Amino acid sequence: MPLEGGLEVPLTMGIIKAVILDLFGAGSETSANTLQWAMSELMRNPRVMHKAQAELRDKLQGKPTVTEDDLADLKYLKLIIKETLRTHPVVPMLLPRECQESCKVMGYDIPKGTTVLVNVWAISRHPIYWDDPETFKPERFDAATVDFKGTDFEFTPFGAGRRICPGIAFAQATMELALAALLYHFDWELPGGCRRAGCGHHCMETISWVFADINSSPSLHKQPLHLQSLSLISCHGHGHGTSRALPLHLLGSHAPSLLHKLNKSGDNGMRLPPSPWRLPVIGNLHQVMRSPLVHRTMADLARRLDAPLMYLKLGEVHVVVASSANAAREVLKTHDLDFAARPRSATTRRLRSDGEGVVFVPYCSTWRRLRRICVAELLGASRVRSFRRVREEEAARLVAGVIAGCCPLSPAPGEAVVVVNVTERIAAAVADSTVRVMIGDGFERREEFLHELGETVKIAAGFSLDDLFPSWRLAGVVGGMTRRAEANHRKTYELMDCAFRQHQQRKESIAASPADSVTKEEEEDILDVLLRMQKEGGLDGILTIGNIKATILDLLGAGTETSANTLQWAMAELMRNPGVMQNAQAEIRSNLAGKPSVTEDDMAELKYTKLIIKETLQLHPVSPLLVPRECRQTCNVMGYGVPEGTTTFVNVWMINRDPEYWEDAEAFKPERFQDCDVDFKGNDFEFIPFGAGRRICPGIAFAQANMELVLASLLYHFDWELPEGVSPGELDMTEEMGLSVRRKKDLYLLPTVRVPLQATE
Ligand code: HEM
Repeated sequence: MPLEGGLEVPLTMGIIKAVILDLFGAGSETSANTLQWAMSELMRNPRVMHKAQAELRDKLQGKPTVTEDDLADLKYLKLIIKETLRTHPVVPMLLPRECQESCKVMGYDIPKGTTVLVNVWAISRHPIYWDDPETFKPERFDAATVDFKGTDFEFTPFGAGRRICPGIAFAQATMELALAALLYHFDWELPGGCRRAGCGHHCMETISWVFADINSSPSLHKQPLHLQSLSLISCHGHGHGTSRALPLHLLGSHAPSLLHKLNKSGDNGMRLPPSPWRLPVIGNLHQVMRSPLVHRTMADLARRLDAPLMYLKLGEVHVVVASSANAAREVLKTHDLDFAARPRSATTRRLRSDGEGVVFVPYCSTWRRLRRICVAELLGASRVRSFRRVREEEAARLVAGVIAGCCPLSPAPGEAVVVVNVTERIAAAVADSTVRVMIGDGFERREEFLHELGETVKIAAGFSLDDLFPSWRLAGVVGGMTRRAEANHRKTYELMDCAFRQHQQRKESIAASPADSVTKEEEEDILDVLLRMQKEGGLDGILTIGNIKATILDLLGAGTETSANTLQWAMAELMRNPGVMQNAQAEIRSNLAGKPSVTEDDMAELKYTKLIIKETLQLHPVSPLLVPRECRQTCNVMGYGVPEGTTTFVNVWMINRDPEYWEDAEAFKPERFQDCDVDFKGNDFEFIPFGAGRRICPGIAFAQANMELVLASLLYHFDWELPEGVSPGELDMTEEMGLSVRRKKDLYLLPTVRVPLQATE
């Protein structure tokens, strides 16, 4: 057609692709889901099933397959499709319309721009029009002239008017042939234990899971086709034993030949992990996004399904969630290499379009080499030790800042008592120390830089419309995350250029000044190390300027919020648990015995402070789903197939609450780690707040050093109280989701100085 020309709108390749995508999007799941509901209703209504099969078998008289020529005579089958569209309209509110001009409807004003929904689901149950509306009775259409072509407004499953679905004939042909083929070739039974008559909502859900699963294998094209009858499906929860390899919408006009193949295929169809029921198009989004705290909604679903490994479809994205220590071990250890990639979304691609870092990179030689540099050169124990001076200075600065605005030991009557925003102070201290370690002292645009880093973290958190519907251009426009990512990328890289320039100028002025007592090793920041290695060469050119910038941005993004948020949770838990606070302060103050400030030499003795950090990571893992992995090749996990390309989460928040491993899991009890070997280094799968396997967090030592010193300093120098009127039990602990989980409300506390800060030698 583009070549024929003469059209009002030129058919560019872009338009052709968009039209095909729209037709596929609008036409596939809708028809498939209507068929699922039809089959489910037939299982609940054996009388209707028998009547349909009798009609079919009578008309076809033993013919080898159903063809479209046969459909004209299958009147009852058509009524079943109609009744299914009435009882289960798969687009229950139609597609939203927008009011183009203000107008009056039924006497009410509808302003221009109003989104208008039509609740077809409710209308097709309205007792004025429908007798016994909840009962599935195809016969109700037998003598009636009511049709779904858009003229009978009590029954408009395809909509009506100018924007009525243009695919009615296409859908009818697809659905009728597929249903006829299924009913002609097979008898169907419910699984053992699942009753037909009176089979309730649970059973309907089970059946719809089954079909939803069949409908959505991500790597369908790679799987041998395989159909099992409903009789093999467990009614209790998991949909075990179902084949997921057959999307019903593909049956369509190919039904006979496909059924032939299906019957012949073996038993090696993929068995996806259990999954909750899904809606067309959005899949499980409505269940998962019920709350922004996705780790909690995913945990609810996993618990309800009793599924340590669960399969979800979030928009277009295929997802597997591991929610037990065993499932985590399988994903992160047994199949470490299979899950060593990270999903690459449009937004993360934009964020790192000038070079690769370590966090968002798929598994490839670039990642392997950059990761080796991180582990061996940037974040290893000796490098972390070399930043001790920066950490101690920043901890002292934090203490000085709190003292400056803090109430005296015994406030005089009427003297103002100052409440400190602990959240803000901790965040600033951790950010300052990390930025100094990465790019050195005195970056003039530090505030702007930190603001943009915060924006990067929000954008990279995923779950935006753009990421969930990558093939829908409209989602990109509405979601706007890709545009935000582009703007953020421009800004952060402009700031990085500025940081590089200032870094260079500072180095030149240090070189020009007389030699000082600071050793070269102490002077080197991470940027120095990377530039030195680049200069030394020998790394196959991996350290391009683009990769160096992306690596530093990744380390800042991954290392700042996580540590700061963990510290905030620790302080909040200490306020809720005064006994733990007292124990910690007693240990610190007795060990330091009046020393002017906490130094890293003291940390070795502060065992209880370390236990507090551990317990905080147990109760408030700030990366509750880790950082998503991507399955690199189809593999078998716990007896289920996980297809290549599946985004994989490990729900450590749920694992950390598993009563099999954790007694009284919701209580804050650092003592639980006292005499136990369980550690967060990636070997104990019941406790992996830093992940495990090849992509385990390389910043553990860095984070530990930072967090322990800051916490010990806050507890050594001050006593802390909650603001007046707040009791420990009432402290708001609501979470908020970013890339890491933070407190929704800032933590305000009243400090009293116990040990004034004195300058150390
Ligand atoms: C409380 C503090 C921290 C927590 C809870 C934390 C947690 C995590 C988690 C869960 C992952 C994903 C692991 C996986 O996929 O198995 C990760 C990755 C990563 N973390 Fe951390 N992290 C923290 C601090 C840091 C620090 C301080 C740095 C660096 C300065 C850092 C750098 C990284 C990097 C570069 C990755 C990506 C590794 C890769 O993909 O190969 N993290 N972190």
